[in-house]
Amino acid sequence: MSYGSAKAMNEELNESFESDAIRFESGEGGLPKAVINNLAGTAEVYLHGGQVASFQPAGAAPVLWMSEEAVFAPPKPIRGGTPVCWPWFGPKEGFPQHGLARNREWSVRGTSTMGDSSTKLVLGLSDDDDTRAVWPHTFDLELWVTVGAQLRMDLRTRNRGETPVEIGGALHTYFTVGAIDQTTIHGLEDCEYLDSLAGRERKRQEGPIRFTGEVDRIYLDRSDHTEIEDPVLQRRIRVGKEGSATTVVWNPWIDKAAAMDDFPNDGYQTMVCIETANAADDVHTLAPGEQHVLTQIVELV
Ligand code: BG6
Repeated sequence: MSYGSAKAMNEELNESFESDAIRFESGEGGLPKAVINNLAGTAEVYLHGGQVASFQPAGAAPVLWMSEEAVFAPPKPIRGGTPVCWPWFGPKEGFPQHGLARNREWSVRGTSTMGDSSTKLVLGLSDDDDTRAVWPHTFDLELWVTVGAQLRMDLRTRNRGETPVEIGGALHTYFTVGAIDQTTIHGLEDCEYLDSLAGRERKRQEGPIRFTGEVDRIYLDRSDHTEIEDPVLQRRIRVGKEGSATTVVWNPWIDKAAAMDDFPNDGYQTMVCIETANAADDVHTLAPGEQHVLTQIVELV
């Protein structure tokens, strides 16, 4: 679908989902986005990709990283924030990397104010001829984005077909850090991981994660939260999760950053991806009618 009529679409969305805390407007590249703003925090969410692009608790600095060279031109996915990888994580021969959801236009299904004054936006995506050409299944996908002091994302998959279907994916979140070489990730100590830089060889993490080069790993059998310790920005970001037993940690470092056309050469110094995942064997087979929810909760601690 074209975004040419974004202005009219925004007006219609503002009328249909009238809310003090959410406004629909044109963002980068003229693409429609929801701007959520309440007493506890702010966030922006693009309908392209169903992608949270920014999050800032009130009084705090931005938590998510967005590439200064991100391309806001569908069907290219947006480089930064939280791309939704679905219904698979990573490469799949003959198919798009990270699935089909991050390249598509999602629709708005609802908005609401929660009891704690946080604000919820519900986006949806269901199958059509385009999605079935890539992945021949009948599905309903919703992303519930709840913004307050925390940013909560619930990715809800329902199998609406008549046969079982396998679901993987990730909430592929780019976090801003002050300096990657001074950043430490806690919570994955002693965990086994698949090293994507070594043909998914199985290795074991010794101690917390520190960065001295490219990192691309799928940490296995770990359902607990992780924490990003950032002495430069003097903060700790907690990444909590539910419905996920794998966590992906990624930093492209120098060469891969230079090879990406939508990523500044020095961008790797101020970002790290912690991805709340259903990757490798951590996939869910959903019977007809069954649902799986993948949840990520981001907060400063
Ligand atoms: C990570 C993968 O999740 O995403 C990396 O582990 C990959 O291997 C990265 O390079 C970015 O992927 P893409 O498709 O957005 O360039």
